[in-house]
Amino acid sequence: MRILYLGDIVGDKVLNVLKANIERIKAEYKINLILVNGENISSGKGLIEKHYKELKALGVAGISMGNHTFSKSEIKDYINDATIVRPANLNTEYGKEVLYIKYNDKTIALVNLLGRVYSNTPLDCPFKTMDRLLNEIKADYIIVDFHADATSEKKAFFYDFAGKVDAIVGSHTHCQTSDEQVYNNTCYITDMGMCGAYNSILGDDVNQIITRFRTGVYEPLKVANDNEYIISGVVLDLGHKNQIIRVLKKL
Ligand SMILES: [Fe+2]
Ligand SMILES: [Fe+2]
Repeated sequence: MRILYLGDIVGDKVLNVLKANIERIKAEYKINLILVNGENISSGKGLIEKHYKELKALGVAGISMGNHTFSKSEIKDYINDATIVRPANLNTEYGKEVLYIKYNDKTIALVNLLGRVYSNTPLDCPFKTMDRLLNEIKADYIIVDFHADATSEKKAFFYDFAGKVDAIVGSHTHCQTSDEQVYNNTCYITDMGMCGAYNSILGDDVNQIITRFRTGVYEPLKVANDNEYIISGVVLDLGHKNQIIRVLKKL
């Protein structure tokens, strides 16, 4: 089974770019299923229902989130019925800890976890949370989106859970790393990167961020407006022998 997993989608304008190109990308990589990280779609933080529906119209089977899961509070009204997985180590009654996705006769379990290094949010231990989930999950394939800042925390999680899950893909930094590897049949990349404006700082407006650094005044961020886009992610080829292929396209 070949799964396209796209890194953090920043802003809703890039959804149109994906709409125009998704069939071509699917054909190029012989994709069966699409997963995305959707935490930054709605004005850079969170995911409103309108944009969730646009993702579904694109054919996205599952959406993982991150530290911005609840940045748009309306998600609380629809997350329980949506094909969205929220970080399992975030203590909340809203949303799913595991998203089960059916593809033909196979079941995929999608898990989302938040790293704790540099995080201000009170979180359960992602390692112990994953131990608990592994006792509960019944699926043919397990994929984890580890949403974290620190490379070391992501790598430690990878070596700890290699052989126990099929893929561990990093998200949150918005910069794709070139360290994809397979160990004990578990696919890994430290960060998948982002889908958003090419001329941007992590998807956000360049001048706004420069002003932040120069003045020390934290104006609200705004999503960058550019006519060129970067589409970043990975293809997970899961089956007898798991493989990971990096996807990085300028459109
Ligand atoms: Fe994030
Ligand atoms: Fe993000």
